[in-house]
Amino acid sequence: MNQFLPLTVTDIHHTIRDAVVLTLEPADPAAFAFTQGQYLTFKQDFDGTELRRNYSICAGLDDDVLQIGIKRVDGGAFSTFANTRLKVGDTLHAMPPQGKFFTKLEPDKAKNYLGFAGGSGITPVLSILKTVLKREPHSTFTLVYANRAVNTVMFREELEDLKNRYMGRLTIIHMLESGQDIDLFTGRVDQEKCAMLFKHWIDVKNMDTAFICGPEPMMLAVSESLKKHGLEPDQIKFELFSESQQGQLAKQEMAKRSEGQRGTQVTVIIEGAQRTFEMTKGQSVLEAALANGQDAPFACKAGVCSTCMGKVIEGEVEMLSNHALEDYEVERGYVLTCQSYPLSDALIIDYDTH
Ligand SMILES: Cc1cc2nc3c(=O)[nH]c(=O)nc-3n(C[C@H](O)[C@H](O)[C@H](O)COP(=O)(O)OP(=O)(O)OC[C@H]3O[C@@H](n4cnc5c(N)ncnc54)[C@H](O)[C@@H]3O)c2cc1C
Ligand code: FES
Repeated sequence: MNQFLPLTVTDIHHTIRDAVVLTLEPADPAAFAFTQGQYLTFKQDFDGTELRRNYSICAGLDDDVLQIGIKRVDGGAFSTFANTRLKVGDTLHAMPPQGKFFTKLEPDKAKNYLGFAGGSGITPVLSILKTVLKREPHSTFTLVYANRAVNTVMFREELEDLKNRYMGRLTIIHMLESGQDIDLFTGRVDQEKCAMLFKHWIDVKNMDTAFICGPEPMMLAVSESLKKHGLEPDQIKFELFSESQQGQLAKQEMAKRSEGQRGTQVTVIIEGAQRTFEMTKGQSVLEAALANGQDAPFACKAGVCSTCMGKVIEGEVEMLSNHALEDYEVERGYVLTCQSYPLSDALIIDYDTH
């Protein structure tokens, strides 16, 4: 499960100045069979420190290729490395595809999908869009794609080609912060902008599912607006790329609250093996597992990706933040262990049950 496998970089394409599309050839292709909208977790050594980062697959299921898109973040370790130092022929290491940012494909149905993407948030949405248009010949897709300016639009040409190929079934609305003549398509995507779009361009009540991926404020505004315009929460799927700063404060608060409290005896089950150790209540289950030499799976450590998901078999935890699990999963006892702090004095967490 927590296994990193080698992939050779066979092509590097600069889609815009600050972003690359990597084509990857896994040594074990079967392990990298994916569902549209999923992501890969990479690990890479930077001056002796191992970093893990997630990147969404941007290829569709029928593209016969494994590709990811990485936008360079100012001062960002992995994204800068991928954009500047990585070469064709290099080997990267990633876990098999993960994530639940998709809905079931139903080729006989005529569904209407809506996608909201901001910046690099286009990557999983592109994978979904290409796949549903190909595999569900009666479905339509409306994409609202927000960017700063026209030269920062990732996959601009590919989207144009897709629009021509799927004429009448794919609608693309480019939202730019500047450089457009029409006011409706200029500025940030907030609730006001959504209300205007939903009045003039997009019939939300007619939509089956909305996929949202981009900066957190945009995601929250779009989701609120979609709900106001008639979508049910379970019709809205999210993929968040990064946490807000609040997470760090909450963690410090937990560490303070645990002072003077009894420790917790925790048992973790990873790939069939059980291990029991003591931890404080001011530590996340993931941190404690790693500190005790356990090969627990993780990537973002920020409650965003779900790589560290486990099931509480016994005991109770408090989950500080959850941007990845659905309500029904939480009801069934699943938790993000990077965000889970013990409340009980005994705890059993199973990483194997998914
Ligand atoms: C499920 C998922 C899917 C994703 N898919 C994609 C995708 O398809 N494409 C994509 O481009 N991204 C994607 N991301 C985001 C990606 O994983 C990384 O978060 C992003 O590339 C930044 O990583 P980095 O190592 O380059 O930056 P980091 O080194 O993590 O830095 C991020 C920011 O923090 C700042 N920073 C770093 N260290 C410090 C410090 N000590 N003090 C203050 N500031 C600091 C940096 O300046 C930078 O602004 C995804 C994330 C998730 C969770
Ligand atoms: S490691 Fe990403 S949610 Fe915990």
